[in-house]
Amino acid sequence: MSRRVGPPHVVNIHDLRRLARRRLPRVVFDYIDGGADAEVTLRANCSAFESIVFRPRSGVRLASADLSVTVLGQKLALPVILAPLGSSRMFWPRGEAVASKCAGQAGTAYVLSTLSGTPMEEVRAASSGPCWYQLYLVGGRDVAVAAIARAKAAGYTALVVTVDTPVAGNRERDARNRSKDLLSTSPARLLAAMPQILARPRWLLDLVTDGGLMSFPNVMLPGGPMGYAEVGAALEQSVVDWADLKWIRELWDGPIVIKGIHTDDDARRAVDAGARAIVVSNHGGRQLDGVAATLRVLPEVVRAVGDSVEVLMDGGIRRGRDVVKARCLGARAVLIGRAYAYGLGAAGEAGVARAIDIIRSDLVRTLKLLGCPSLDALDRSFVSTDAPF
Ligand code: FNR
Repeated sequence: MSRRVGPPHVVNIHDLRRLARRRLPRVVFDYIDGGADAEVTLRANCSAFESIVFRPRSGVRLASADLSVTVLGQKLALPVILAPLGSSRMFWPRGEAVASKCAGQAGTAYVLSTLSGTPMEEVRAASSGPCWYQLYLVGGRDVAVAAIARAKAAGYTALVVTVDTPVAGNRERDARNRSKDLLSTSPARLLAAMPQILARPRWLLDLVTDGGLMSFPNVMLPGGPMGYAEVGAALEQSVVDWADLKWIRELWDGPIVIKGIHTDDDARRAVDAGARAIVVSNHGGRQLDGVAATLRVLPEVVRAVGDSVEVLMDGGIRRGRDVVKARCLGARAVLIGRAYAYGLGAAGEAGVARAIDIIRSDLVRTLKLLGCPSLDALDRSFVSTDAPF
């Protein structure tokens, strides 16, 4: 482990967040850290984990704790999957390949966003574990059809269709940080936005060495890869509706995961649309602000779908303890977004590896403290959701 991301400097995910804030320009850090509107859902995702408490079984001797789990027929060494994060290449050079490598080394899966800066083949080749491809319909249907074929040929084993992004959420921090001005051709606007970039020369040097401002090599438009400045407008026209699932299903014969489920009704609809797994997700509080924390929605969704589909969840996970609580409420596995993004922004490969390591060792310790030998043995009896006394 690199000394900089080990103890005493980094003992938890919040420490990685602090280091990421120090290395990244404000506009990039806030893109990772922020949420939509008043960030009510962003905060609720995290605080929901505080509102349920453990009911441990004491006096239990456990030599080890089994963290392995099978998701979509693939055995993972831990129930923590790396979520799709657009523009990861802005956090660290070839960030997507760095993150997928770390996922593989940890024995888990990596999900590559459509809106990535590194070609999907390179990202796939960097990992020794499973990689899934997350689909947005940016650029239209023909562009998506080509991307699906490319993902299949490259060896992606699942398609993750995100259904909660009919438009980009209103991220107030991006506007305050003049994120659009940084892409402007107007010298005056560019000049006003530049000081935050110049304040982070190390990051800037890394960006320049990595080829400068990224484009989107997995969104191949007739004239070449989609440019960075085009993403806002493209997202406005990229909504995936339930009817789209039909043609996507015909093109992709592997498992489909539907990401962005908030209610029991939509969970049942996803099952009807042929999903093998669903992700209870509010996009980390980045889309519709004011929706419930995902942990609170999870039991409703699990009740609605039973065993007909694998239920995953994400949102607010910063500790192994949170993963255990999600398991107790019925999630088969979780995805983490910011927890590893902070690591990537702080220190690249060493930071992502450290983020996963922190969560893994938390998980083992929590299971032992609960007196529970394995993830499979976790259930509602290990938590109490009615905290008042
Ligand atoms: C995301 N998320 C996301 N989801 C998706 O389906 N496609 C994408 O391109 C992105 N991009 C993205 C960028 C950044 C910077 C963040 C933080 C998030 C949502 C992500 O996959 C996941 O649902 C959340 O990050 C989970 O919440 P936590 O773990 O970040 O609290």
